[in-house]
Amino acid sequence: MSGQIAAWHAEHLNFARLLRLLEGEVARFAAGETPDYDLMRDIVYYLLHFPDVHHHRYENEVFTRVAARDHALKPLVTRLLQEHRVIAASGERLHALIEAVVGGALATRAELEAAAATYLVYYRAHLAAEEGKMLPRVAEMMSASDWAAVAAAVAEHSRGDPLFGPAAEARFRGLRLAIEREAAALAR
Ligand SMILES: [Fe+2]
Ligand SMILES: [Fe+2]
Repeated sequence: MSGQIAAWHAEHLNFARLLRLLEGEVARFAAGETPDYDLMRDIVYYLLHFPDVHHHRYENEVFTRVAARDHALKPLVTRLLQEHRVIAASGERLHALIEAVVGGALATRAELEAAAATYLVYYRAHLAAEEGKMLPRVAEMMSASDWAAVAAAVAEHSRGDPLFGPAAEARFRGLRLAIEREAAALAR
């Protein structure tokens, strides 16, 4: 596995970890309990500000390149690019619903639960399609110079991961602790 594919896959595992944490809060909703709204808000905020901006931009660049060379990939690439737009839009809506429920505004818990549950299903299907169908093809097709061209194309918007990267931001401290707790629980 090339370094780029390994890093890409590692980001997917990080996103899957966050979706598991979000799922735990949705399950608390379903059980009639009060979920950890701060945790939900931080997860969605991160997904809006790192994957939607950086990870998806990078993927769009790679996917467009491979589809231009192998036309059989075009339908899948069209679908994945559309899913990036839907994920961003539904993430914005979910974030707004969390803020609304916390602020006592008009949104209901049922609306929030439905939006979160839909987001989870959609996001997971997207990750599964990329992991199962796209990454193996990308690994075969991309050369070192292709990867360099992609890096150059996204360099202007490139930024470090504010949650999992070395320059982690203070605002995600609570979320990092929740991730560590979950990792420790899974290791038991
Ligand atoms: Fe994607
Ligand atoms: Fe992805």
